[in-house]
Amino acid sequence: MYNEIDLSTIEAGQDPPLQEPERQYYFMAKCRRYVKAESERLGRVLTAAVITFGCQMNARDSEKLSGILESAGYELTDNEEADFVIYNTCTVRDNANQKVYGRLGHINSLKKKNPHMKVALCGCMMQEQSVIEKIQKSYRFVDLIFGTHNIFKFAELLANMYEAEGMIVDIWQDTDRIVEELPSQRKYAFKSGINIMFGCNNFCSYCIVPYVRGRERSREPEDILQEIRRLAADGVVEIMLLGQNVNSYGKNLKNPISFARLLQECEKIEGIQRIRFMTSHPKDLSDELIQVMKESSKICRHLHLPLQSGSTRILEAMNRRYTKEQYLALADRIRREIPDISITTDIIVGFPGETPEDVDETIDVVKKVAYDNAFTFIYSKRTGTPAAAMEGQVRDEVVKEGFDRLLKVVQDTARERVARLEGQTMDALVEEVNEQDPDFLTGRLSNNTIVHFRGDKSLIGTIVPVCLKECHGFYYIGEMQ
Ligand code: 5AD
Ligand code: SF4
Repeated sequence: MYNEIDLSTIEAGQDPPLQEPERQYYFMAKCRRYVKAESERLGRVLTAAVITFGCQMNARDSEKLSGILESAGYELTDNEEADFVIYNTCTVRDNANQKVYGRLGHINSLKKKNPHMKVALCGCMMQEQSVIEKIQKSYRFVDLIFGTHNIFKFAELLANMYEAEGMIVDIWQDTDRIVEELPSQRKYAFKSGINIMFGCNNFCSYCIVPYVRGRERSREPEDILQEIRRLAADGVVEIMLLGQNVNSYGKNLKNPISFARLLQECEKIEGIQRIRFMTSHPKDLSDELIQVMKESSKICRHLHLPLQSGSTRILEAMNRRYTKEQYLALADRIRREIPDISITTDIIVGFPGETPEDVDETIDVVKKVAYDNAFTFIYSKRTGTPAAAMEGQVRDEVVKEGFDRLLKVVQDTARERVARLEGQTMDALVEEVNEQDPDFLTGRLSNNTIVHFRGDKSLIGTIVPVCLKECHGFYYIGEMQ
């Protein structure tokens, strides 16, 4: 297993191998020598912090970055006052970009105090040319920048950074490569995300993801299953299959396979008790998937099904390729087949041309589908997307009014919906000690609802029955049975 390769056996003097991932292991060994020398010089261990913005895909990428940093000999920390700090960025909405610039301002002052400090930037935001130009101009102290397509090369770039003077920038425009089998440092011992595909081909008109993550590429099913078997052997009980649009998984493989079939294969793996996935595009959700979910005891009772808008006119302008009626019919079909399922969603308010009547249509869908939770976003104009050039950009006050109106309905519906389980006893996977009260644990139900209950931290990573006593909006206070 590559995670167990002994880096001290790799000769640094030789030329680096051309094959991946062997090449990256060579550079990890090289980085280890640099880190060791610097650590001896300073008389202390070197620390590294990986700061993550954005979605589950980025969270998983950060586990890989952490694994490589740990292999190089860094001690991982959450504190940004570290010897090496890397920001794994998101650019889906402009406020994600602004957060990164804010943090960089702070880092500049830290770096003045610790001139040995190294700073790196990676992730979706770095795939935008205007961002790179801005950093090169105004944030000269950054040491390393790379993008989403060459993240597997992190060890090599790190080694280059130690040897170079000035900023290293390595951005690829696209790739058809998938390099896995690199070390990764999981945030939770008992659960893990697994990339099953990369990129997106949908080109929703507001969305920058297809431009920064590239074209859709599925991993071979056997590689995915092998990774899950290893995770199960390492104590993982819950997996989350990750992709921008998991319902189109496998369609472009040499031997095509459906997402539902992949789920069935995952289910057979011993030790895995829960299977989740994210995200489903409504236009590609098949009846086969609904049946497989219905018959499964491991696939969680939760479906994240982004609506974006309830107005057919806006959906068309968004290039979502379904109508309000088609979405409602799909939600009905899912509820009919799997009555205990929780459906959650994403909604955008303020898309160009949206009127208060369009928001009414969205509110109508929220009421009809009765989501357990909905993430509501204010439309953010992303340069280079078709929507950015559309007429009828909505005024801020109008957006705000629609957003508040929608949020109220979302909260009321969700509260009512989540409360339906009050008094029932359900299985919860214990995830962590409660952040507010150390006598309490925080667990997650199959349907993704959170429950806090009294218990000992030795239960973390196990599945326990919990009676759901009091519903507090989106979460429960419970009692272990
Ligand atoms: N503005 C606002 N929200 C967006 N999303 C994607 N692009 C934008 C944008 N330009 C939202 C969508 C998507 C979620 C991950 O982010 O709702 O489902
Ligand atoms: Fe963006 Fe649409 Fe692809 Fe989701 S499906 S990543 S919203 S383009």
